[in-house]
Amino acid sequence: MDHFHYISGRLHAEGIAADTLADALGTPLYVYSQRTMHDHVTRFRAAFAEIDPLLCYAVKACSNLGILRRLVEAGMGMDVVSGIELERAWLAGCPMDKVVFAGVGKSDDEIRAALDGRHSPLRDRTGDLNAGDPAARGPVGVLNTESRSELERIAAVAAELGIRARVAIRLNPDIDAGAHDHTTTGRAGDKFGVPADLAAALCADFRAHPHVEIAGFHVHLGSPIYKPDPYLQAIDRLTTLIDRVESEGTTITHLDLGGGIGADYETGQTPPFSTFAEAMIPRLRPLVARGVRIALEPGRTIMANAGVLIVTVRHVKRQGGRRFVICDAGMNALIRPSLYGAKHFIWPIQVEPGLEPADRRFEAPGVEPCDVVGPVCESGDFLARGIHLPEVQRGDRLAVFTAGAYGMTMASTYNDQPLPAEALADADRAVLLRPRQPAFDLIAPGLAESAVSIPAEIRA
Ligand SMILES: Cc1ncc(COP(=O)(O)O)c(C=O)c1O
Repeated sequence: MDHFHYISGRLHAEGIAADTLADALGTPLYVYSQRTMHDHVTRFRAAFAEIDPLLCYAVKACSNLGILRRLVEAGMGMDVVSGIELERAWLAGCPMDKVVFAGVGKSDDEIRAALDGRHSPLRDRTGDLNAGDPAARGPVGVLNTESRSELERIAAVAAELGIRARVAIRLNPDIDAGAHDHTTTGRAGDKFGVPADLAAALCADFRAHPHVEIAGFHVHLGSPIYKPDPYLQAIDRLTTLIDRVESEGTTITHLDLGGGIGADYETGQTPPFSTFAEAMIPRLRPLVARGVRIALEPGRTIMANAGVLIVTVRHVKRQGGRRFVICDAGMNALIRPSLYGAKHFIWPIQVEPGLEPADRRFEAPGVEPCDVVGPVCESGDFLARGIHLPEVQRGDRLAVFTAGAYGMTMASTYNDQPLPAEALADADRAVLLRPRQPAFDLIAPGLAESAVSIPAEIRA
């Protein structure tokens, strides 16, 4: 499952003791495991090999450049949802034809940069970034669109650039994938995608457009999803839609089924990739035989178990019948528990013999429950509530497991807490991927005030 293991009472990330990393780099600290990421990519690819899908890692799950570079080296394309994520994918060395660009509200500037690297916001900073010229990078493989209005903007920008944009229309299939309300994205009432009738109408209206090629469809049902059924329903609806638009004259060459496959937050919670693949492939095979390339956008399932967050206990106190373990990071470093009620297994990184967790179940008989909370001034600032932890004291370090996806990317500086550092364990080698945010960087943008000059013609 992953390469974080206790050896003689010390948590190891691959071959490196977590306490040595925490000593060297301080906490809060995200530690990723190269081998875990790599294993997940390999197993994911093997499960779906028969249909040879385009695998586009969802950058939003963990967007550290060092992580992206390694995933690109492992052959992954990238799924991006903003202009800056696009630049990250490019800086990580991802070929642009393996990039899909989703997102419900792309700006014209983002569309422009996706279609033509001369409009990259980094164009003048390539020297600082030790990067090549983005002008040479070419357009993204597919731009996903989620409304008629946005498709019209893509068409206008592509016309301005003199190119033909390859577009996929995101279908809202009206399927409830059963994820948290905030992360379920495929129901009719959700903001994402367009209904099937509108998707078909857009295909018809843009069929002969000189600057837009409707290559296919995109769907993303939500996350995390723990069984194949919602995907099967979606494939059936998409197949009906493809049959319909092809009978009306649009040729479909691309079908992107998004991401969403769960990660093992609790031991044994998620079936293996093969369970999803074996259910989906028989339905996808006929489409592939018709010339449709399938794309998949896994994020969480690649990175969640490939990362832990290490925090340090600052204080322990008991009140109101509860034991509070107050740490140096909480919702600012990992917001999933506060935002989604998500459960992460937490355990000290150094324990007495006999207290090594045999597996990562939340009950530990004889061990008193506690709330693991952070320093942020919110009652909603916690990493876990009512979990079982052995006695801990000031200075002990805890590992929050399954934190590699939607951890650092959702971290904030609320309460002026600097962003955590990120490191990678690769066998017995450790790499600092990003240092802790310096205090100066938090404060500097507000040091200087400057007058806003408003051109005379737009003054009231
Ligand atoms: C369009 C799209 N694709 C892929 C993903 C990745 O989902 P997951 O990390 O659950 O695989 C998301 C997540 O929000 C998404 O919005």
